Amino acid sequence: MLTGAGVSAESGLGTFRDAGGIWARFDPMKLATPQAFAADPDNVHEFYNARRRNLVGARPNAGHHALVRLGEGLAERGGGLFLCTQNIDDLHEQAGSRAVHHMHGELLRALCAGCGARTVWREDLGTGTICPGCGRAGAMRPDVVWFGEMPYGLDAIEAALEESDLFVAIGTSGAVYPAAGYAAQARAWGLRTCEINLEPSDNAHVFGERLYGPASEMVPAFVAQILAEAG
Ligand code: OAD
Repeated sequence: MLTGAGVSAESGLGTFRDAGGIWARFDPMKLATPQAFAADPDNVHEFYNARRRNLVGARPNAGHHALVRLGEGLAERGGGLFLCTQNIDDLHEQAGSRAVHHMHGELLRALCAGCGARTVWREDLGTGTICPGCGRAGAMRPDVVWFGEMPYGLDAIEAALEESDLFVAIGTSGAVYPAAGYAAQARAWGLRTCEINLEPSDNAHVFGERLYGPASEMVPAFVAQILAEAG
């Protein structure tokens, strides 16, 4: 299972590439690259601080809740769900999903570029923020993956894909790799593949099944269908 910004859209968190989306209003090269952070850390902190404040008030929607039921239902039947998200929000966890694989990091964590410590973080970050690990200021950054950086846990994702018989992408435009490549890989390996999105994604042709509509409606219906099929 791979989720993207579309699953959180109805919780009030913006998507990136829709009309009026985050990257339509802000230049990602000035905000989401290591070079941007080195050149203007205050600007980058301001952007992520605003997103963090927005997230602190956000709540999961019926799509997130349905995925909790899917994980529990599959576990009861002796199976499992590997929930990989590109989202840096914590809405899957708020809904009750466990062991969520955040391949693009987490907004509610800070990373010290000096000592490597990762800390749960719900407040604003700034250039003067002191790392609780090493006690030094000046190296704290959001623990998110920027363009040009390696997403987290790619080996674990590949291993999970290899063991799966169903790959589902929910609310992702299929524009950012390596995440966008998993559907084709899954198809090539003979997995059942399904896309759930508001509209056909860049990768729509790759999926064997395509369901279009809001995640809050489509995901609960899909989960009910999968659990019914699983018996
Ligand atoms: P995008 O904004 O690129 O795509 C979101 C997708 O969700 C679009 O295809 C929308 O049509 C769809 N969508 C919008 N509202 C929806 C709803 N209510 N129900 C279902 N689908 C809906 O977001 P991602 O694909 O997640 O990375 O973006 C991937 C990565 O690009 C992000 O993780 C982020 C971004 O740059 C980094 O910052 C490294």
